[in-house]
Amino acid sequence: MTSEQHPQEDDLRIREMSIDDFPVVFHIGEDLFTSEYSPSMYRTWDEYEITTLYNSDSELCLVAEFNNEILGFALGTTVEKSNSAWKYGYLVWLGVKPGIQKGGVGGALFKEIKRRMREQGVRMIIIDTDADNEAGIRFFKKQGFGNPQEHVYMTLNLSRANRRKADRKP
Ligand SMILES: CC(C)(COP(=O)(O)OP(=O)(O)OC[C@H]1O[C@@H](n2cnc3c(N)ncnc32)[C@H](O)[C@@H]1OP(=O)(O)O)[C@@H](O)C(=O)NCCC(=O)NCCS
Repeated sequence: MTSEQHPQEDDLRIREMSIDDFPVVFHIGEDLFTSEYSPSMYRTWDEYEITTLYNSDSELCLVAEFNNEILGFALGTTVEKSNSAWKYGYLVWLGVKPGIQKGGVGGALFKEIKRRMREQGVRMIIIDTDADNEAGIRFFKKQGFGNPQEHVYMTLNLSRANRRKADRKP
């Protein structure tokens, strides 16, 4: 499928991911969530992300399918905090194949995961993405997200710190 052949929402099937879909979902994610996508993010895309989220809440692991081809996925879970009566939905990964982005697939996946989260009693959905991800941020704003909170990631290179300490020893 080329970028000129965006599927219409009616032709697109959003369904729960199955174990057989893991390899396709994994490879689409590999093309999207590279180290350049988010060098500082504490979550990295690997096979455990898919299996862990699938094991914790398979109803919130969805794929978008068109003509038996998987074009994108949404993987989420719910979070309950001890000091809050609210149940949160956490959309952890949302990805659409590079060639067909901006064709409504992400929107269709989001619509369905939102519906399922609401059905599970979720009152607020959370997403996180890199501050440089302009397309993603624009997408989420279009879906009604707001109140962006900045988060600072810092690193401490232990091998260098250890070396400096060792240098100081008599
Ligand atoms: C974010 C993403 C899932 C959106 O899926 P999509 O199928 O492209 O989205 P839709 O076609 O349903 O929605 C289109 C809207 O998304 C935003 N958008 C999507 N791609 C964009 C791009 N390259 N540049 C600017 N805005 C973009 C725009 O708001 C656009 O609406 P507009 O054209 O009216 O401005 C997809 O771009 C993607 O997979 N990105 C890489 C992974 C990622 O960043 N995931 C989100 C964090 S987990």
